[in-house]
Amino acid sequence: MASHAAMTLSERADELEERMAQELERIVTKSVLFNLADGKVEMESGPALQKKYPGKYMLMSADPRLPKMPDKPTLIDFFKNRFATTAHLLQSANLARKNGMSEKIVLACLLHDIGVASFIRADHGYWGAQLIEPYVDEEVSWAVRMHQALRFFPDESVGYAYPEAYVKYFGPDYQPEPHIVEEYKRAREHKWYMSARMICVNDLYSFDPNARVELEEFTDIIGRNFRQPKEGLGFDSSPSAHMWRTINWPTRFL
Ligand SMILES: [Fe+2]
Ligand SMILES: [Fe+2]
Repeated sequence: MASHAAMTLSERADELEERMAQELERIVTKSVLFNLADGKVEMESGPALQKKYPGKYMLMSADPRLPKMPDKPTLIDFFKNRFATTAHLLQSANLARKNGMSEKIVLACLLHDIGVASFIRADHGYWGAQLIEPYVDEEVSWAVRMHQALRFFPDESVGYAYPEAYVKYFGPDYQPEPHIVEEYKRAREHKWYMSARMICVNDLYSFDPNARVELEEFTDIIGRNFRQPKEGLGFDSSPSAHMWRTINWPTRFL
């Protein structure tokens, strides 16, 4: 093994991670997706893991390193314990409310980027829509899904320009892929086009980092417009329950 001084930063990070893993009662492992994000197409097998952590069982429930979730988690519990950042969501919802939008649109703004905040950036509009679909009005999840494509196309009728942030992030020559262009065209013809467009209009990019909006300001809107399952998100039998469960328990072995 390389001496500590000769180790690269990433080797040192791996070592630290392993040392922390050794201290856990159960074996916490990374799914392929987590390794893909590190540029590796690989996973550790069960036998290899048990060899590395002798005498231990695989983790099959909550990850002790993460904030504790109640047995019957609500959307608000996910906001507080599993969403890496909520300022953008809260500020967008706040702006939508200030702009006199309906509760449905305020909720759509509050939830529009939960895909990014809790799960994955790529295709976040689709993931976010799928997560909430069983629990909200169809118009809300449709709008969340379509904001993914609409973000890239201006609509002067409502004062929406191509985001300057995107020029900064993706370069001046970036062009949305054909499937996104097609999605935009379909959305444009849809009866709920303006609902998805309103997410873009209220999607705050250069928000004031000091402006604090509290989640509690939206408790009533969530209560009236999000059908919280009595078993807890992840433990009902909806088509997206498994997704909430995975976000709750992301390192279960199976
Ligand atoms: Fe978004
Ligand atoms: Fe956004």
